[in-house]
Amino acid sequence: MRPVVNSRVLSRLEVVATPRTFAIRTFGCQMNEHDSERLAGLLIGDGMVPAASDLEADVVVFNTCTIRENADLKLYSALGQLKQLKEQRPQMQIAVGGCMAQKDRGEILKRAQWVDVVFGTHNLASAPSLLRRSRSEGPLVEVLDAPDPEANREMAPALYAVRELPYAAWMTIQTGCDNSCAYCIVPAVRGGEISRPLRDLVDEATMLASSGVSEITVLGQNVNSYGRDITKRGPLFAQLLRALGEVDGIERIRFVSPHPKDLRPETVAAMAETQAVCNQLHLPLQSGSNRVLSAMRRGYTAERYMERLAGARRGIDDLAVTTDIIVGYPGETDTEFDETLEVAAAAEFDSAYTFIFSPRPGTRAALMVEDFVPEAVIKERFERLKEVLDRSALRKHEARVGRREEVLVEGPSKRNAQMLSGRTRQGKLVHFPVTAEPLRAGALVTLDVVHGAPYHLRGELSSVVRGPRHKIRIPLLSS
Ligand code: SAH
Ligand code: SF4
Ligand code: F3S
Repeated sequence: MRPVVNSRVLSRLEVVATPRTFAIRTFGCQMNEHDSERLAGLLIGDGMVPAASDLEADVVVFNTCTIRENADLKLYSALGQLKQLKEQRPQMQIAVGGCMAQKDRGEILKRAQWVDVVFGTHNLASAPSLLRRSRSEGPLVEVLDAPDPEANREMAPALYAVRELPYAAWMTIQTGCDNSCAYCIVPAVRGGEISRPLRDLVDEATMLASSGVSEITVLGQNVNSYGRDITKRGPLFAQLLRALGEVDGIERIRFVSPHPKDLRPETVAAMAETQAVCNQLHLPLQSGSNRVLSAMRRGYTAERYMERLAGARRGIDDLAVTTDIIVGYPGETDTEFDETLEVAAAAEFDSAYTFIFSPRPGTRAALMVEDFVPEAVIKERFERLKEVLDRSALRKHEARVGRREEVLVEGPSKRNAQMLSGRTRQGKLVHFPVTAEPLRAGALVTLDVVHGAPYHLRGELSSVVRGPRHKIRIPLLSS
């Protein structure tokens, strides 16, 4: 008897024979970077394989950001670039997920009809099935208003993640944000705070350590309120730091971002007393003017911020501090901006991210159109602020010269093949000459710092503490 092979079976056989290839392009913050790692794991779990490049991929997924308007513009321009490619290769699929997809939903298909799938921040786990379905059903938009408990359960262990680096890993401890900073779109696109159970996080860290990861960066929009949704008994973030510090093999722990209003002495104590926690703190200031801080609904004054900072510096030896500052918040006067300059100078940051205020739909600040600061004024303020910040960064970095620093090697320097790069415990990028003995990414060395520039240090190898702890190279995401 001849076997009956119907066309459905045949198409399945084809899929098995030549798996579809995918590429993920990520925009935005580290949380998005890590979501892309999880997405890659889910797509591989669904039978796809990473493509050599975007141009060859059967499936291109954009994991988007919408924090500022230029993030939106970047996405639409990237989508525009793929239009022609899609016309040449109609079998290719384009998916848009992440924060901007959560905001724009079906609008994306109106502006870019060649997109096949749109999914939001609450249903990342549905991406593979949406992609499969859209091959027969046509374009699909699925954006949920709240997390899907089923999908969340599936995602919780983050075991599906295909991590970009074998020696350092991101770990999302909490999604969403319960604050309501007047300029910020994150709560609208990421929802309220949901913390993952402490036990799961310790298990994940243990799993990471056993696969050779030695550095963990803990992610959340407001990490020091971690666990507030689980229990009122706190402070859970301090407990989490201590628990992660106990995991064998985890030598470095970093976290972003704590909120200044929630930076409790217990967290500072846990940082100081947990050897693995790095002496680095990212503490977003946003503005140095109390009037502006209050309009932003940040929940602290400049004085309170400086007190918290001083407390952290007193408690933690040799602490590096970085920050975020917004220039040109609606109604910001010259005097108020000067206050930001003064606080920024007094805080002596090691480095800072500066942003020009961008009105985001649905936020309070976006409604204050009459108070928008003219572009030319913002530009001039931005430059003045940069000068103050660069000066303190340079001073901080020059002060490192002559010190011996522990550095986790990241690999060849991006700009100079004769140099290697790595990070100090303070999180500073350091370049040093290629050594006679090859040094692989993930190795731990000590360096003597010989030069400090505003954005990096230069060093010379002093000793190799150990080689990489991981055994195999996990495939990279193409982006
Ligand atoms: N949850 C984190 C920050 C997330 S967004 C925190 O509160 O620290 C990262 C940074 O982007 C913010 O700290 C802020 O400085 C900046 N930002 C957010 N919304 C912005 C907007 N509408 N315009 C300009 N900068 C913005
Ligand atoms: Fe946005 Fe404020 Fe939440 Fe940070 S704390 S994500 S700035 S609302
Ligand atoms: Fe952007 Fe969403 Fe992160 S808006 S900054 S990708 S949380």
